[in-house]
Amino acid sequence: EQVKEEEQVHAHHGTRYANEQLTLQHNEGIAALTFPPVLQPVSRNGQHVTYALTAQKGEMTFVDGITTDTYGYNGNFLGPVLHLTKGEHVTIQLTNALDEPTTFHWHGLEVAGDATDGGPHAVIEPGVTETIDFVVKQQAATLWYHPHPMGQTAKQVYNGLAGLLYIEDDVVRDIPSDYAVNDFPIVLQDRTFVDGNIVYEDVANTSSTLGDTMMINGVVEPFLTTRNEPVRLRLLNGSNALTYYLSFSNDMPFQLLATDGGFLNEPQEMTKLTLGAGERAEILVDLTNVADVALMHDDIVVLPIETTGEAVQANYSNTLNEIALPVDVTTMEPTKHITMEGMTTNFLLNGQTYDETRIDLRQQRGVTEVWEIENIINEEGAMAHPFHIHGTQFHVISVNGEAPDASLQGLKDTVTVQPGQKVRIAVTFHEVGLYMYHCHILEHEDVGMMGQIEVYE
Ligand code: C2O
Ligand code: CU
Ligand code: CU
Repeated sequence: EQVKEEEQVHAHHGTRYANEQLTLQHNEGIAALTFPPVLQPVSRNGQHVTYALTAQKGEMTFVDGITTDTYGYNGNFLGPVLHLTKGEHVTIQLTNALDEPTTFHWHGLEVAGDATDGGPHAVIEPGVTETIDFVVKQQAATLWYHPHPMGQTAKQVYNGLAGLLYIEDDVVRDIPSDYAVNDFPIVLQDRTFVDGNIVYEDVANTSSTLGDTMMINGVVEPFLTTRNEPVRLRLLNGSNALTYYLSFSNDMPFQLLATDGGFLNEPQEMTKLTLGAGERAEILVDLTNVADVALMHDDIVVLPIETTGEAVQANYSNTLNEIALPVDVTTMEPTKHITMEGMTTNFLLNGQTYDETRIDLRQQRGVTEVWEIENIINEEGAMAHPFHIHGTQFHVISVNGEAPDASLQGLKDTVTVQPGQKVRIAVTFHEVGLYMYHCHILEHEDVGMMGQIEVYE
């Protein structure tokens, strides 16, 4: 009861629970948004392309002229956009130039469940370079990469280890695709600066490490300037814990183009979008007749947007994709049940914490199974948990027995499950190996809200 009273902050988003109370302040728009560089290959030989990524230490000046220690990939903070194409054979040289072990995980990528996937078993020690190799088999999507060492993921991501991974395919889609011109990467992260420094240990909260300051693409309190035209925003929730409830300051509708795993069949018009930690969404926002507007999280300004007055005529088509359920799942009963619980301590999946020596689930490659994920309200209360599975893109079949809303109709690798909800998903793995599934609130993952599934031939 008590939990409920404090927390019905924003009725239009449903019940809000204690640990998600907002500490985030308005983004006043003090710096122009910048965009990560696109990673250039080390070599390219027909369909075989080789990249090199180094996790390294860096320094940044974010606030008050103070220089703080950071982590980054091939740079001081965050990483370049890795741009891959379906059908390509990719080799990536991974170097750990940190003083601590790390891994390189490709969130949303359908690769073998071995060292390629970069889960907690794929540790690279300091000073070591490892090479992975895979073929890109999935459709166009906005994925991302980040470290995954057991118990250290939250800290390493917070300090700056994260980057975007774009997959392109050869389907012609008539949508904005000029990088940083009308197709903008938007990596949303919240941070708390301690005397101008990023010090994870000083702000870490096992329940949810939340920031008071908005940072996008590594820029503190940025604004976006763009022409008056429809623009595509590729949103990544790269925050450790915060669930964003996004809309625009003028409540204008926008079109959802893609979710985690790629394009919807047709754009879906909406005015609000929930994005849990780790989730992505691509949206088309028509700024043709808009002068000033802001992307909001609840009542908080996330990103002020101003237009230049330069209009560009654009007409975009409506057919984006042809995805269908792999089998008729409507009559299938769940074969896997996973409960999630925890609000302040004891973050559990099926009542347990992670054990690297325990295989929790098994599934045959190529066989579709229905999983039911339930967010349990226990004595502590409950909070939203974004449920993520490695190595696959799944379909959301139902939420509390009802058809999912438009934002859940595309392929997903992470689904935000609200307190009390039961979400059914249809899961098919295309590769074999050992994969993680976990809550993508990184603090929860680090304390063991994670399990392992073995996918066999
Ligand atoms: Cu984005 Cu297991 O992670
Ligand atoms: Cu992942
Ligand atoms: Cu969680």
